[in-house]
Amino acid sequence: MAPTKLTEAQIQHYHQHGYLVIEAFMARELGEQLMHRAAELIEDFQPSKHPSIFTTNEQTRTSDDYFLASGDNISFFFEADAFTEDASADQQLVRPKAESINKLGHAMHLLDPVYKDVIDSLSLPKLAQQLGLQQPRPLQSMHIFKQPYIGGEVGLHQDSTFLYTQPLSCMGLWFALEDADRHNGCLQALPGGHTLPLKQRFRRLEAGGTTMDILDDSAWPEEPLTMLEVPAGSLVILHGQLPHYSAANTSARSRQAFTLHYVDGACDYPADNWLRTQMV
Ligand code: FE2
Repeated sequence: MAPTKLTEAQIQHYHQHGYLVIEAFMARELGEQLMHRAAELIEDFQPSKHPSIFTTNEQTRTSDDYFLASGDNISFFFEADAFTEDASADQQLVRPKAESINKLGHAMHLLDPVYKDVIDSLSLPKLAQQLGLQQPRPLQSMHIFKQPYIGGEVGLHQDSTFLYTQPLSCMGLWFALEDADRHNGCLQALPGGHTLPLKQRFRRLEAGGTTMDILDDSAWPEEPLTMLEVPAGSLVILHGQLPHYSAANTSARSRQAFTLHYVDGACDYPADNWLRTQMV
């Protein structure tokens, strides 16, 4: 459980394919602690009249000040399909609040004692160092719910688009808190796609708001994505340039995951990244 020493084969797999799956990395009890804590945070959360929805649609994200302010707090984002469709009325949740949240983010690793204790117990910087980061810095945490029936699709993207350093150094650690499979929207990735150039960069504009710079406008390769179907307790490590995707969850089961993204403190962290951090 939680091995701190990777094998040569694991390191080679990561560099060759851009991802690494380690099953039974985290004790199920730790995953249960995170799910229990997330439920408590949601219970205490009082949604505003205009709640924030998480979608990979760029327009929505760009116009959403709540999202931009969430880098150093714990914010709550709803699934797009969590509300009634009547736009003329105040938006009403169709199902209980706890079954409507898309994700929590983005600073549980800094602010919440339960998340901090679980993260600290896993020796994660040692893993990141073995995969090439000199000074692993955790920048962003998310608790993702992928709710039954309404868990939204997350379009094909590279995480370095959102956590950009020079040179690029983003690494995502994705912990399956529940079994993830093709029915409830498991991760899918383009094997070897981490060698592609970074296609887009999301950044703040000086005048306010954000933009998505196109760095490479070539099409994604037309190769099948690999389904990363993993049992609860697994860790999936994703290279920041690896294109990955997850389908909508149309099943009756949620697919909860916790993610922690590292960048290398030895790299330059531009001040116009959306996430403002102690690194700047
Ligand atoms: Fe991602």
